[in-house]
Amino acid sequence: MSRRPRLRSVRTKLALVFFAIISAAFGLLYFIATPQLESKLEQRQLDDIRSSAQDVRPRLKALIGADLREKELNERVRAIGEATDARVTLWGVDKNRLFYPQSDSRTEKEAPVNDSLAHSAIESKRPRTEIAPLGGKEMAQVAQPFFAPRHGRPIAVVLYSRDLNDVAEAVDLVRNRVLVATGVALALAMAGAFLVAQALARRVRRLEVAANEVAHGRFIDPLPVDSKDELGQLTRTFNQMQAQLQQVDVARKEFIATASHELRTPIFSLAGFVELLQDEELDEDTRREFLDTMSEQVARLQKLSVDLLDLSRLDAGSVELHAEPVDLSELARSVVNEFTPALADHETDLEIRLPNHGPEALCDPVRVAQIMRILLDNALRHTPTGTHVTVGAARRNGAAGLTVTDTGPGLPDYSETKVFERFYTGDAGRGAGLGLAIARELAERMHGRLRVSSAAPGTAFTLELPTDGNGA
Ligand SMILES: Nc1ncnc2c1ncn2[C@@H]1O[C@H](COP(=O)(O)OP(=O)(O)OP(=O)(O)O)[C@@H](O)[C@H]1O
Ligand SMILES: [Mg+2]
Repeated sequence: MSRRPRLRSVRTKLALVFFAIISAAFGLLYFIATPQLESKLEQRQLDDIRSSAQDVRPRLKALIGADLREKELNERVRAIGEATDARVTLWGVDKNRLFYPQSDSRTEKEAPVNDSLAHSAIESKRPRTEIAPLGGKEMAQVAQPFFAPRHGRPIAVVLYSRDLNDVAEAVDLVRNRVLVATGVALALAMAGAFLVAQALARRVRRLEVAANEVAHGRFIDPLPVDSKDELGQLTRTFNQMQAQLQQVDVARKEFIATASHELRTPIFSLAGFVELLQDEELDEDTRREFLDTMSEQVARLQKLSVDLLDLSRLDAGSVELHAEPVDLSELARSVVNEFTPALADHETDLEIRLPNHGPEALCDPVRVAQIMRILLDNALRHTPTGTHVTVGAARRNGAAGLTVTDTGPGLPDYSETKVFERFYTGDAGRGAGLGLAIARELAERMHGRLRVSSAAPGTAFTLELPTDGNGA
């Protein structure tokens, strides 16, 4: 059961990938973007106070120099506080550079002082800014120093401070939204991953079940192709593969059925004769006649088994062909010689149209001789006694050709391609119908072709062979 863990792992992988992407996005927003946003907002507050402080500086300068009563001073400072939208505290500086409160724009409680910021502003003689806790709260602060016009002694420091609560609230809101959005995205992504993996798993499983069926030799209806994606393409290819396998399977079964039928006929016939021969009262002539018929059947069986073996070797690709330059005329003559008794039996006057030498072909001489024998055998077997047969060889269109022509009755109608099929016989009873199937297969293995032209009266078979290694 390796199936389940594999499918589950697709789901896990998808979920992990989604989880990683969303977590990375979350980390980026939460830990990098939000703090940046916070510091930018704080900086903006600080810049705002500083520029407001710059604007109100003349008003303060007038205050610090003037001899005002406390109430009026406080009112003016409060007005400046409103104008700058910050708490404004005015600190006097004594000779020892210690600060003492002079006025505050707010009255609720005594303003704390940021000593270091105030000192640094005095030292540098310019406004200084800082974001730091003041009175227990995070504050944007600006310290603005004032100096006596004549001797330049520091006389006052004005501290502007603004609560950063709004900024913190806004940033917290963003943070919360990011968290909620991440949660929702994670839930959606997980559900999506689960559904996608589920759908993929279902389709893969359907293919797997189908492949298993085919593997056990049970062909099924073509699977429905319901999408144009890669799995749809795979399903289409699977259907094609199944159709081809089915064809091969049918052809194989037909071949076995026909071959066993062809083998059974002579064996039954032999068994019958053996039984008859056991009859002791049989006269010598009949016995001889029976033995002759039996020997014919044995010859038929022998030829059939050799042909079947040849075919199965060709199918298995175990026929070894050794291509070498072969003089076709020479080879044709030697095969024709083998046929002298058969030609005489058939009362055929064979015409030989062969040049003294050549044409030369690149082929296996043993297999070319086998094809020649098949063609000559047909020319004698499927024609009436006395039919004229011609064997010729010539070079044509860059190929070397061997031709066996007869003036017999020609092929049965519409059988020019059928004669090359296995077990096809036009005149039942004479042969098993394997000769031409073997001949064509051998010709093709040698990169050649076997062609037939049936122009009544007569039939011509031409074997074309390559003259070099590139095929005819
Ligand atoms: N020269 C020919 N003239 C007429 N018909 C032919 C000729 N050669 C082949 N045929 C036809 O083609 C059929 C197939 O030939 P093939 O050689 O494949 O089989 P076969 O001769 O019947 O049997 P096998 O060769 O296996 O003993 C023959 O049965 C015959 O009908
Ligand atoms: Mg034949």
